[in-house]
Amino acid sequence: MNLPSYGEAKKREKVTYQTIDYQIPKQLKDKYHGKKYFLKTYGCQMNEHDSENIRAMLLQLGFVEISLMDDADLILLNTCSIRENAHNKVFGMLGRIKHLKEKRPSLLVGFCGCMAQEEGVVSDIMNKYKWINFVFGTHNLYDLPRILEESIEKGKQEIEVYSKDLDMVENVPVLRDKSYKAYVNIIYGCDKFCTYCIVPYTRGSERSRKREDILNEISKLYHDGYQEVTLLGQNVNAYGKDLYDDYGLGELLSDIAMMPIPRIRFVTSHPWDFTDKMIEVIGKYPNIMPSIHLPVQSGSNSILKKMGRRYSKESYLELFDKLKKVRPGIAISTDIIVGFPGESEQDFKDTLDLVHYCQYDNAFTFIYSPRENTPAAKLVDDISLEEKEKRLYQLNEVVNTYFLENNKKHVGRVEKVLVEGESLKKKGMYFGYTEENKLVNFTGKNIKEGSIISVKISSAKTWSLDGEAYE
Ligand code: 5AD
Ligand code: SF4
Repeated sequence: MNLPSYGEAKKREKVTYQTIDYQIPKQLKDKYHGKKYFLKTYGCQMNEHDSENIRAMLLQLGFVEISLMDDADLILLNTCSIRENAHNKVFGMLGRIKHLKEKRPSLLVGFCGCMAQEEGVVSDIMNKYKWINFVFGTHNLYDLPRILEESIEKGKQEIEVYSKDLDMVENVPVLRDKSYKAYVNIIYGCDKFCTYCIVPYTRGSERSRKREDILNEISKLYHDGYQEVTLLGQNVNAYGKDLYDDYGLGELLSDIAMMPIPRIRFVTSHPWDFTDKMIEVIGKYPNIMPSIHLPVQSGSNSILKKMGRRYSKESYLELFDKLKKVRPGIAISTDIIVGFPGESEQDFKDTLDLVHYCQYDNAFTFIYSPRENTPAAKLVDDISLEEKEKRLYQLNEVVNTYFLENNKKHVGRVEKVLVEGESLKKKGMYFGYTEENKLVNFTGKNIKEGSIISVKISSAKTWSLDGEAYE
């Protein structure tokens, strides 16, 4: 048994990671032939991509995926810690699973992802959820086949959660959700320790994958006909710092852009280590998509300081302006937290002023949620829920106005759209995403999923565009 420890998770030491190749233990191959599994994924793209690895490992074990959990032999939850409501959803789900397990004790239940890295959650699992069969963390995802097997062999709860990454494991199999767009991890973990955020504890230190491993993966995707890659990391801008003196995200992006895969995206960028090289490369290569996610969190310098964000409103705006200048028409999206401890009316007004300046194309807005063991959780949470909700509502009203205004600018234009498929609601209606990552619903004939086509935009809504395929 290995339990998570925040003390260990917080340490940042210089380690040289060994790269090892994933291999499924031979005797486990196809051992569960025909058994059914149900996988539920919560949270960010990183978790979605981890689930693509989980699916591939379960396939190697012989499992088949089903979409209704009632008939499953194995239920696996890939969880998220980022805010309280993510927790609540998972605990709600556990309540439903418990009923199934009571009716069918042979049902296997596994628990993984960020919540598995939390001391409090794992202690609850050991005391109150003894029926969960196995738990594994974000650092040993690749160990799923062995942990699952061991929990069956031993017939008791198996908890294998490491608080530190042990090795860099390459070639973990992946069953991608789509055949035309792919996620590619470039860096794991986060060393920023923003005071409200649990991620540095659940995902560990910043560890970059070797550039040749990333470039090989993308080259294969390109040759397999993939149209789009999204480079993933909690903070992609830190790419390479732990491995190289003179090779960072700017250099990596330019190497990928020359391959040349048609569409390159990357998430998430911390404004603090956005280099001039990156800005130059974004301006230079048309296949780097004109869409950047640049979380600001707050427009008040005093709140940014308390959040430990390392930049001021002024330096954020300077970066924002540089991006708008180097790539005219670039869509910029953001994350904003309201109700951080001590946020005054004036601090909130500063955030609204910043939003009026930036006129974001998209924004994810949240009420501050204290997270176990983070520095901000020790601050007095002095704003009432009613006030937080009022601020969130007010902020949403403002951001939504700009989504619509920005979308309206696209009406009448012919846009390149990567087709995702036919609408489930309406036959003959398709949907896809523009280069700026805007959702477009459009009509057309002989439309092929996974192709990039021209669409003439006819009207704009707050969260989407409408259009018609254009010859
Ligand atoms: N409370 C509210 N929002 C949070 N985020 C991260 N931690 C918290 C928290 N404790 C938001 C930030 C981040 C996004 C992924 O989630 O805005 O950018
Ligand atoms: Fe969390 Fe800050 Fe790291 Fe983003 S940069 S994952 S908000 S600690």
